[in-house]
Amino acid sequence: MSDTVLVDREPPIALVRLNRPDVLNALNEELMGELLAALQALDADADVRCIVLAGNDRAFAAGADIKETFVKATPVTMLEQDLTTKWEGIRRIHKPIIAAVSGYALGGGCELAMTCDIIVASETAQFGQPEVNIGIIPGAGGTQRLTRAVGKYRAMELILTGRRFKADEAKAIGLVAQVYPAARWLEDAKALARLIAEKPPIAVRLATEAIDLAVSSTLEAGLEFERKAFYLLFATEDKNEGVDAFVNKRKAVFKGK
Ligand code: CAA
Repeated sequence: MSDTVLVDREPPIALVRLNRPDVLNALNEELMGELLAALQALDADADVRCIVLAGNDRAFAAGADIKETFVKATPVTMLEQDLTTKWEGIRRIHKPIIAAVSGYALGGGCELAMTCDIIVASETAQFGQPEVNIGIIPGAGGTQRLTRAVGKYRAMELILTGRRFKADEAKAIGLVAQVYPAARWLEDAKALARLIAEKPPIAVRLATEAIDLAVSSTLEAGLEFERKAFYLLFATEDKNEGVDAFVNKRKAVFKGK
């Protein structure tokens, strides 16, 4: 492995950092491959219950690497890169991933944040889908995920103008869950991850899957899944632990069993 992605295990959470600072963490094939491998390793790591994905103060990621990837690209070279498989792999990670955005999250950077389960932002964050400015459109889920997150008419305006928008606007339109002070964004994102990591992991996983179904399926299918998942949780030790802790006025300790 090279070092385009850095991993800090801090059980029960892990911090994954995009690390191509000279190009504002532009996403190339190498970085995407290393990111997927790192996330899959953490997904299989029993001591890790929640993952924070971040860049640095200046950039989460400024999108696909335009210079390396697009200058001589043809439909065939784009197809051969098979980036879809990597993006799909990231979407299939079971553990909750919090995208912690400071600075730029543009194009593929914004799409990468939207592939995660929660987006939080430093007050310095700037989001955008600027692809139209270079003659293309979002190609890693932007037209679909942004529209589902903020609605058709806002997504149209943002994608057709390619304009950048700041953390406060991102929160107002429902893309970002929390905006943190610039000096504390990463610590606050990690605190959120630790809070989620204290919860029963099987319930967290099933809740994540149910919420994802709410934006990708019909109401009937989503309700059906929710009902089955709800019943299933009554077979877990963590449900017994949670209920017993409530009844006996103590703090629950969940094992993921
Ligand atoms: N690809 C490759 N290199 C990039 C890059 C990108 N997406 N974004 C920034 N860089 C590089 C710059 O070329 C520059 O390198 P040099 O020092 O060698 O010139 C370095 O990062 C620093 O960038 P700037 O000097 O431009 O910094 P700035 O503060 O003046 O501007 C910015 C920052 C507004 C983010 C500007 O760099 C920018 O507009 N970047 C491109 C953003 C963009 O269009 N992203 C969408 C890409 S398409 C896509 O992502 C498709 C998809 O759906 C997957």
